[in-house]
Amino acid sequence: MTTAVTPHNNLVNLAHQKIAARLSNGSIAIDATIGNGHDTLWLAEHVTPQGLVYGFDIQVAALTATRHRLQNADLLKNIRLIQANHAELIQHIPLEHHGHIAACMFNLGYLPGADKNIVTQTDSTISALNAVLAILSPAGLISILAYPGHSGGDIETQAVNDWSAQLDRNEFTVSEYLSTYQKPSAPKLLIIEKKSA
Ligand SMILES: C[S@@+](CC[C@H](N)C(=O)[O-])C[C@H]1O[C@@H](n2cnc3c(N)ncnc32)[C@H](O)[C@@H]1O
Repeated sequence: MTTAVTPHNNLVNLAHQKIAARLSNGSIAIDATIGNGHDTLWLAEHVTPQGLVYGFDIQVAALTATRHRLQNADLLKNIRLIQANHAELIQHIPLEHHGHIAACMFNLGYLPGADKNIVTQTDSTISALNAVLAILSPAGLISILAYPGHSGGDIETQAVNDWSAQLDRNEFTVSEYLSTYQKPSAPKLLIIEKKSA
């Protein structure tokens, strides 16, 4: 299903809206691309006081910014920040949480205000998506905000699209939201919902 929505910020809001319905106190979530920590904070606010957010990024600057943001909100106890490639996320998440991930956010691309050459890569993005699928809870949700406008972003966005297209529709619902900018470079939001057991 494809739906057009207005501009980029609304795609972020829409992702939050979809995820909010899956989270409550005690939920476990993943931010696969923490960047400046906006989404990590939002996730932590929705799982507190007893839940946990695992946050991944390859850049130390992202971990520093996110830790600071969560500290200011007094939510550090609800996060585990991990400097690692999200393709390897399974090995950083304890076995007891496998099968219990209620939501995972991917905000692809580069860290705003930092080196634009450090950017998510197609192969590791697809590996990470498969890794999350393997540990998602029944009725769990993955959001992927993809940006075809930067160098390599078009290939990555297409690969994510192709990956979502081959998911078993008996097990997953896939929804696609496009910005009404209607340019090929406009961002795209994919929501993958695992059906209940
Ligand atoms: C668009 S930013 C994320 C913005 C973030 N959600 C926020 O709210 O500020 C994308 C992030 O993905 C990170 N990244 C790139 N490749 C990665 C990988 N293989 N594993 C984990 N993070 C990666 C980048 O360092 C960058 O910080």
